[in-house]
Amino acid sequence: MKPESNIVITGFMGTGKSTAGQLVAAQLNRPFLDTDAEIEKRVGKTIPQIFADEGEAAFRHIERRMCRFLAAQEGYVISTGGGMLVDEGNREVMLSSGLVVCLSATPEILLQRLQADKAERPLLRGDWRGLLEKRRPAYEAIPCQIDTTGKTAEAVATEIIALWNNSLSA
Ligand code: S3P
Repeated sequence: MKPESNIVITGFMGTGKSTAGQLVAAQLNRPFLDTDAEIEKRVGKTIPQIFADEGEAAFRHIERRMCRFLAAQEGYVISTGGGMLVDEGNREVMLSSGLVVCLSATPEILLQRLQADKAERPLLRGDWRGLLEKRRPAYEAIPCQIDTTGKTAEAVATEIIALWNNSLSA
């Protein structure tokens, strides 16, 4: 990686991408971007509103464009929506823009973390365990992985920074 490459944090809903991303950004003194927040700003609607009014396919279309736009920026810490890098094209775009780190956790931990958030995450109303299984190969295709089970956000951020420092000296 080059010093100006992005650091991209991805993984299923509830793996702690945004919290860890914000900590990494603060520690490395870099700007932080959350792809869902950027989409909400651009469209002028919340994610559940976009799903309800326009459907998931329209959301994925917006997400693909946002992925390409953000990948063209430099020096950011970017947390993606949980489905963004399930798409192979999006994954390749982000992998070539910087270090991509995929966070995971056991379904039990995810359930605990997600129970409070159903209103914000339309896909949690369906079979989210089935979705997690279906997506597993796409997440596993990302070379850098961190299992966050039993770890604090601070510990996860420290691991991400260690991966980043290694990638710079490689
Ligand atoms: C989604 C994850 C959400 C958001 C949207 C779809 C997904 O982001 O992009 O609800 O497909 O996994 P978080 O992972 O930040 O909850």
